[in-house]
Amino acid sequence: MTAPLEPLPEAGARLLAECGAPPRLVAHGRLVHDVAARLLDWLGRNHPALEVDTEAVRFGAAVHDIGKTVHPEELSAPGHRHERAGERLLLDRGTSPGLARFCATHGDWAHPDRTSEDLLVSLADKVWKGARKEDLELRVVRWIADAEARPAWEVFAALDDALRELADGADWRLAHQARHPVTGAAAT
Ligand SMILES: [Fe+2]
Repeated sequence: MTAPLEPLPEAGARLLAECGAPPRLVAHGRLVHDVAARLLDWLGRNHPALEVDTEAVRFGAAVHDIGKTVHPEELSAPGHRHERAGERLLLDRGTSPGLARFCATHGDWAHPDRTSEDLLVSLADKVWKGARKEDLELRVVRWIADAEARPAWEVFAALDDALRELADGADWRLAHQARHPVTGAAAT
């Protein structure tokens, strides 16, 4: 994979810088944002009538882990404390609740209140590293199939192909992220 990464949305890049996000976290935001942008592109080409707030998905993908500036131990070990902390951080900086929420929702896609935008951020946050989560993907399939009155199997087959293609870049992305240190200031 050699294509340049999509540039971060300006607001997301600014917030990451203001919160002192270290290079690894900025790299992660760029990688997940890039995958989200490719997913949105695929949706736009294959399901153009679907209503998706693409700006919200891009923003959410870019900053979903910003709470790790408050809980840096979760940059290199699993944990969920960054989720609510990230939402709080963004709310305190004037981000609207509808956008700050991605920090809190990205790890819990099973919740019945999740929007299609939440699900897309969660999906990008898995597929960037080649992880496939059947329950998450089935929720996305159900959303598309219901909205378009199409058979779920047909939607699933096409989405599966798209996700497989995206997952092909996972080795490059993982190596790219690992080259960025977990401490220090990011060059943005
Ligand atoms: Fe993430």
